[in-house]
Amino acid sequence: MSPQGVFITIEGGEGAGKSTQIARLADRLRAAGHEVLTTREPGGTPGAEAIRALMLDPARHFAPLADTLLVFAARADHVAAVIRPALERGAVVLCDRFTDSTMAYQGYGLGVGRTTIATLETMIDLTPDLTLILDLPEPVARARLARRGSATDRYEQFDAEFAARVAAGFRAIAATAPERCVVVDAASGIEEITDALAALIRARLGLAIA
Ligand code: TMP
Repeated sequence: MSPQGVFITIEGGEGAGKSTQIARLADRLRAAGHEVLTTREPGGTPGAEAIRALMLDPARHFAPLADTLLVFAARADHVAAVIRPALERGAVVLCDRFTDSTMAYQGYGLGVGRTTIATLETMIDLTPDLTLILDLPEPVARARLARRGSATDRYEQFDAEFAARVAAGFRAIAATAPERCVVVDAASGIEEITDALAALIRARLGLAIA
């Protein structure tokens, strides 16, 4: 059965404000009458959340390919158990990260082959209808994370050069798939960013949004 709903992914580096924006977009879409499911990767099912805990545990080390396979195992479960059923019943799914994060972090960031990631992507067989990439200058992102002060996960411990490769990766992904991806400046105010994202959802997908 082909999905009837709409699949929107929100991407970006650490501290870009993805979760704040997802909550705000969900409210606005619900106010316009849509069924909305918000979810995240890695995660979204009990099994995938267990993989997330394993993958992001700062006390562990996995080889880059192992991380890639872990995140795709989590994704396979998440898509089968949560995302695809929601799309089949016509929901709007807002997902905090998806395959573009694997390409940016494990591919551009850690050097896993892009064809390896692209091959795994074909097995998942689900492409977002729209991908909103929140782009933040690296020093601003660092300052936000420091203010947040929460325990850092494994990927937050990587250095500024890694973060720069990830950010460049997201921009490169957007450049190769302009019909699907939009890069949004995440340095402005929260309300302003929500307005910009809502306008993109309206214009690109024809969805009603408050
Ligand atoms: P979050 O902090 O935005 O929830 O993301 C969790 C971490 O997982 C973040 O550091 C990026 C990392 N990650 C990957 O490295 N590859 C992936 O494919 C995904 C989905 C996340």
